[in-house]
Amino acid sequence: MPPHVAEWLNLTVRWIHFTVGVAWIGASFYFNWLENRLDREAKVRDEIAGELWAVHGGGFYYLEKYKVAPKRIPERLHWFKWEAYFTWITGFLLLGIVYYHNARAIMIDPAVADISSGTAIGIGLGTLLLGWIVYDRLCRTRLVEHGVAFAITGYVLVAALAYGLTHVLSGRAAYMHVGAMLGTCMAANVFFVIIPGQRAMVEAARAGRPPDPAKGRAGAQRSRHNNYMTLPVLFVMISNHFPSTYGSPENWAVLAGLTAVGMGVRHYFNVRHMRRHAAWVLPVAALAMAALAYVTRPHPVARAGLPAVTRTVSFAEVQSIIGRRCLPCHSRQPTDDVFRQAQAGVMFDTPEQIAARAPRILVRAVQTRTMPFGNKTGMTDEERALIGAWIEQGAHIDR
Ligand code: HEC
Repeated sequence: MPPHVAEWLNLTVRWIHFTVGVAWIGASFYFNWLENRLDREAKVRDEIAGELWAVHGGGFYYLEKYKVAPKRIPERLHWFKWEAYFTWITGFLLLGIVYYHNARAIMIDPAVADISSGTAIGIGLGTLLLGWIVYDRLCRTRLVEHGVAFAITGYVLVAALAYGLTHVLSGRAAYMHVGAMLGTCMAANVFFVIIPGQRAMVEAARAGRPPDPAKGRAGAQRSRHNNYMTLPVLFVMISNHFPSTYGSPENWAVLAGLTAVGMGVRHYFNVRHMRRHAAWVLPVAALAMAALAYVTRPHPVARAGLPAVTRTVSFAEVQSIIGRRCLPCHSRQPTDDVFRQAQAGVMFDTPEQIAARAPRILVRAVQTRTMPFGNKTGMTDEERALIGAWIEQGAHIDR
């Protein structure tokens, strides 16, 4: 696929992906809130579980929730499912366009494991499929009745997956596949459990039969699981912007930490909507974020595991390294076969451009080693050390 076509395909599908994702997660947050905020003490008819008044967009809304089902199912009944399906479909397309189409550059980091493109794609697809099978099996055991134990088990499995994937794929691809696996479980919950359960309930109500309570319970459990998965998934979807996370030597632990923060914050809001308080969660989450920022702090070049440089490094040396290793993707006229425009708008054609970006060059090429992208241009540790030393010596372009 010509790179320009790939870029516009990426743009279009990504735009749709996050639009439908916002719609899905927005609806999911709204209904969880509704369920938790329902006024169950209100004096309403016997068949009603609770009511809720709201004002929004210049109008008053009044809602009732039935204990089981209304006597007559209305003609026009709204379902919420296409948001979920389209989020998954567009997400899967994006995995194809961004990752599988370009596996060598994006999924493989030779410093992690020198695997083939086919193996990397197989690991990616296998993760999505196996993740769902394991999760779904787990939901069919008695463990699912014990919320806390289930959450801990699920969390440990996700952390183990993060550990495993970061040892075979590039940090970026490993993160994305942990998120894509969770997103797949969420969409599959809707498709295989929640919607079929609702369909059975509607059919039962139409036939005047009592609905199967097990179906309703399973649907409620799955939707609660989805709720706890949202914040971790959302982090993963923006993680590519944060090289200190996926580029950290302990990237899997950083992801595990952020997953715990996301689940915790979601829990805080769920509990709060039920007018109980778990006030300790937010300060603990804030502390955890500060701790993660500390753990991922950049180390001085001398401690970044690179060869020591004890002499003064000249700019000419640095410019020649950058010319070989960075210019293919970061110049007015890139020569890379895939990246046809200056990536992220960053160009290193002139000494001034290099000096101006010195702090980011230090982060990306020396401290996190997340540039060159997938180390496509084969930068060596010696070269990284030289650039690091030059920057620490003041990043002068005149000597
Ligand atoms: C094979 C292509 C490729 C090569 C070679 C490459 N980059 Fe990049 N670079 C990218 C892409 C793609 C992005 C945007 C995605 C990202 O930021 O991770 C980027 C973004 C950047 C950014 C902007 C984002 C930020 O974190 O500030 C900097 C700085 C950067 N690269 C530095 C470098 C340096 C220094 C080198 C050489 C040591 C280099 N790159 C080599 C592809 C490349």
